[in-house]
Amino acid sequence: MARPKTSLAVVALFALSAVALPASAAAKQKPCPRSGAGCTLVQVAAESGIFVGTAVSNEITATEQVDVAANFNAVTSENAFKWSEMSKSAGAIDFATTDRLVAWARVRKLRLRAHTLFWHRIQNAPWLKAELAAATDPAARLRELMAERITKVVGRYRGKVAIWDVINEPLALFGAGYDTADTPVTPKNIFFTTLGEGYIADAFRRTRAADPKAKLFLNELLWDARIGDPKSDALLALVARLKKARVPIDGVGIQAHAMLGTASPWFPSTTASLKRYIDALGKLGVKVEITELDVRLPLLADQPNPLAAQAAVYRRVASACAQSHACTGLTVWGQRDSHSWLDSYSLTSATAPNNPLLLDASGKRKLAYQAVAAGLLERRR
Ligand code: G3I
Repeated sequence: MARPKTSLAVVALFALSAVALPASAAAKQKPCPRSGAGCTLVQVAAESGIFVGTAVSNEITATEQVDVAANFNAVTSENAFKWSEMSKSAGAIDFATTDRLVAWARVRKLRLRAHTLFWHRIQNAPWLKAELAAATDPAARLRELMAERITKVVGRYRGKVAIWDVINEPLALFGAGYDTADTPVTPKNIFFTTLGEGYIADAFRRTRAADPKAKLFLNELLWDARIGDPKSDALLALVARLKKARVPIDGVGIQAHAMLGTASPWFPSTTASLKRYIDALGKLGVKVEITELDVRLPLLADQPNPLAAQAAVYRRVASACAQSHACTGLTVWGQRDSHSWLDSYSLTSATAPNNPLLLDASGKRKLAYQAVAAGLLERRR
């Protein structure tokens, strides 16, 4: 979602921040009806106690300002905190974008999810592979680099980031296990092949030490978030191992990109399988958030009313979150249909515009918006 940096956007960034309705004021308004009709998602968040968030770009454009202020009480950095975005060369860290994002979120009293410290698959540090290849002890060097990133980045924002996605997508893209070799669809998990599964525990322990107050999440891309699905079961087993080893993991993010065929759980007729899965994670002692929800409209082109079918998918995911007390937040991966990663991503750009979000290209609320409201309002504080 790279957009032109404009100084106007930065100016707007602070100007608009002063006028938007803070979440607390929204909570004093007339209670929302069960349908969510006429309510903003800020009001829904206040009444349900579930954070409603969106991904924001590196620039936080003026349009995002308007959309976020009116509709969300939480944000996730879409790219800003990724290793490739912050460190173009070994030892160099550029904090300009993350400083601006953190400051903006604080002024707006938005709960900030910093995404992500370590992700092997895409936007990893571009120089990391060469750095380890040149090291006499690659494992020691990788531990040193990871420790340095955590100390400098997490330490800098201590007390300002509510949730860290410490590790993103550690498991193999498909099935259980880890990516142990480079393939055309994914590079190997260099953290796992160099350090073993222990890299996860180490990262969580160091991050806890760097910011004892932040909640630490493991964020995963599940194609079918249900008990019995191999990757979903592998995630449950991983979390169980981490908790058994007393690793300070506070939560699990289920990304919920409904981008593949309609066989994934985001498309079935029931909320129950997803709720059961969230409950199973909760029983392990972690909170759960839906962290990157979007629903590709072209996948529903065969439905009599695709926008209504899209809304039904959003409703089912929101209901599952509301019905499971382990679920503390629901984040959609963007605001308007005019800016979705899916329209530039190699596997989904062919069906652009994918129109996957809650606001249409002009910022108008879609059926999906009210569906999320109604789903989350199944829980009241
Ligand atoms: O920062 C560079 C910029 O310098 C350059 O000029 C521009 C043009 O090439 O590219 C910019 O980097 C882009 C980056 O987004 C920042 O805008 C990358 O090319 C682009 O590939 C990258 O896409 C991001 C994608 O992750 C990478 O896989 C999407 O915006 C982002 O929405 C998406 O988010 C991921 C989550 O982090 C993890 N879960 C899956 C989700 C979708 O892939």
